[in-house]
Amino acid sequence: MNTTPDRFAYLTNVADTTAAIANGIAWQPGDNVVLVQGEYPSFVLPWTRLAQHGVESRFARSQGIETDLDAIEDVIDDRTRAVIISHVDFNSGYRNDLAAIGTLAHAHGALFVVDASQSLGAIPVDVTAWGIDALVCVGYKWLMASHGIAVLYVSERAQEQIVPTAPGRYSVRSGWPFPDYDLDWAGSAIRYQGGALNWIGVCALAESLTLQDEIGGDVIAQRVIELTDLLIDKLDALPVEITSSRVPEHRSSYLTFTLGSIERDDALVDSGKAANVLFGRRGGGVRVGTHFWNDESDLDRLVALIEQAAR
Ligand SMILES: Cc1ncc(COP(=O)(O)O)c(C=O)c1O
Repeated sequence: MNTTPDRFAYLTNVADTTAAIANGIAWQPGDNVVLVQGEYPSFVLPWTRLAQHGVESRFARSQGIETDLDAIEDVIDDRTRAVIISHVDFNSGYRNDLAAIGTLAHAHGALFVVDASQSLGAIPVDVTAWGIDALVCVGYKWLMASHGIAVLYVSERAQEQIVPTAPGRYSVRSGWPFPDYDLDWAGSAIRYQGGALNWIGVCALAESLTLQDEIGGDVIAQRVIELTDLLIDKLDALPVEITSSRVPEHRSSYLTFTLGSIERDDALVDSGKAANVLFGRRGGGVRVGTHFWNDESDLDRLVALIEQAAR
């Protein structure tokens, strides 16, 4: 991720990591947050809840599955305190151009906050090059850890602007093992981590990161994209409409498609359950995802089911 270990805290899920950021900013009535349509609720609701403090949530108009940078620019102004967006959209698998969106946010002095739950572990993330101020990510998806563990990244610059709102023993520098209750925040991002963690989840995350590190993030990303390419080729030979972006820089480990009707898409998902192949019902169609441990024989099983349902 191109950063240092002191920039991380570990919490439970995207709802609480996002709330740690959203609630920690010193909002003034009339401030606003810029979002795009279709984000995962846990990443949105901590911001829309701020309406009770006079903070407006401004949703940029949407352009199909693609993120329209002009639409984001149209709603940003100098009262924008945060621009929030997912790296990879959970419905369509559309991968956003974070460097460009981060530049827009910073041009207005806003914090740039990213949900990387659908990329980190499969697609490389560079918080420094892309100017990310805060990043949240669940442990149970591409990071292959478990439920109940989530990653929070906060840059040094953002840490100056975001106060811990659920502090505990890990948040402060002094007072352990002789508590003095002083709020002298830890120097690192661990200040956002309150009490004891889901240590089982932490162990799972540590093991999985060790494995991913051994293989190499670039090797994993290359394999994931290779598998998605192969799947696109196979689906192009069937009466299936691919609804994900085909543009290489906007692709990810997800692919969505439709067999042309709700009934056919539903039937495919049901046939998958019977064959132990899990399809997601997302983005108005069907979503499939491949990770580095999948191989061509997995794709063959998947495509055989799709072919059968498409007949
Ligand atoms: C983009 C994204 N963010 C967050 C989550 C999960 O949120 P939480 O950890 O609050 O359950 C998901 C789950 O699918 C997701 O796709």
